[in-house]
Order: sequence, then C-alpha cells, then structure tokens
Amino acid sequence: MNETGQGAVAKHPSDLYPRGQQIPVLAERYFKVAIVFLLLGLLVGLHMSISNNHSAHAAHAHINLVGWVTSALFGVYYALHPVKADTRLATAQFWIYVAGCVVMLPMLYFLVTGNESVEPLVAAGSMLVFLGILLFAVVVFSNE
Ligand code: HEM
Ligand code: HEM
Repeated sequence: MNETGQGAVAKHPSDLYPRGQQIPVLAERYFKVAIVFLLLGLLVGLHMSISNNHSAHAAHAHINLVGWVTSALFGVYYALHPVKADTRLATAQFWIYVAGCVVMLPMLYFLVTGNESVEPLVAAGSMLVFLGILLFAVVVFSNE
C-alpha cells in the first residue's frame, strides 16, 4: 500500500536513475547489437524485394525478430531494471544470446540461400539463442 491507499504503483521513468545515473551499459550494448541486426535484416529485405526472389524470407524474418526486436526488448527490460542489469547472470545472458545471434542468423541466411553445409552451425547458434532466452527467463524471475 502507498500513501494514497492504492496498491503498488509503477515507478515514473525519472525515478529509475536517481543522482544522474546513465542507462545501464548492458541496455546500451543490446541496442547497439539490435540496430546492427536491423540494418542487416533490412538489407536482406530490400535485396529480396529488388531481386524479386523471396527465398531468404526465413533468414530476413529471424534477423529482424531475433536480432533486432528481441535484442531491443532485452535492452528495454534492462533499462527498466538497472539493478538486474548489473549482475554476472545478466552479463552472461547477454554474451550467450549475442554469440547465438552472431552464429545463427548469418548462417541461416547462407542455409536458405543454398549452402546446406552450414546447417550444423545454424543448429549450434540456435541452441545458444535458446540458452540465452532461458537465462533471460531466469533473470526475469529472479528477485532484484
Ligand atoms: C526495408 C524494409 C523491409 C523490406 C523491404 C522487407 C521485405 C520483405 C519481403 C520481400 C518479405 C518476403 C515476403 C514473402 O515472400 O512472403 C518479407 C517478409 C518478412 N518480413 Fe520484411 N521487410 C522489411 C522490414 C521488415 C522488418 C523491420 C521486420 C520486423 C521487425 C520484418 C519482418 C518480416 C517477417 C517476419 C517476414 C516473414 C513473413 C512471412 O514469411 O510470412 N520485415 N519482408
Ligand atoms: C532458437 C530460436 C529459433 C528457431 C530455431 C526458430 C526456428 C524456426 C523455423 C524452423 C521456422 C520455419 C521456417 C520456414 O518454414 O521457412 C520459423 C519460422 C518463424 N519464426 Fe522462428 N525460430 C526461432 C526463434 C524465433 C523467435 C525468437 C521469433 C520471434 C521473435 C521467431 C519468429 C518466427 C517467424 C515470424 C516465423 C515465420 C517466418 C517465415 O516463415 O518467414 N522465431 N522459425
């Protein structure tokens, strides 16, 4: 209960960073990773549109959704929970997820454009992405 007699209320964004603190390094890093994948995803999308060959659509979809949208959402979460961003678990989560994206997404592009030999790398990268998301679930359910 707060002084108005209501239940817990969300913090105002300006209350998250008292004493002029900056956005957590981890959140900033997630946005840097995310924007690189958005640019790559858009290049693949533009290439598909211009060439009128949509065979890379699955790689385009995952570069944009796993590389850009999910990374940016992780960044938003850590920006809203600066205390959780400052833990070894969150740092490990970041590196495992990013390593997974860096392996899975370009290899998926090569796979769907005809290089079947890279399939084991897509599988390995996918496992890292999955592990990164699993660790994010642990971060979300952990106490601050
Ligand atoms: C310059 C911008 C973009 C271009 C030119 C573009 C182009 C395309 C093209 C040509 C396809 C294949 C469509 C088909 O064959 O059915 C596609 C699919 C898709 N795009 Fe984009 N796209 C762009 C941006 C984005 C962004 C920003 C996102 C997500 C954040 C996105 C998500 C998707 C998804 C999820 C699919 C797969 C849809 C499906 O298979 O049903 N695209 N896009
Ligand atoms: C370990 C991670 C993941 C794996 C292994 C995976 C695997 C797959 C596979 C096998 C397909 C079918 C592709 C096809 O039929 O051509 C697919 C489609 C799709 N996945 Fe994922 N996925 C993963 C993560 C995600 C995430 C996190 C998102 C969204 C945030 C997502 C969004 C989609 C969408 C929108 C499609 C349909 C796209 C299309 O047909 O072009 N995936 N995924």
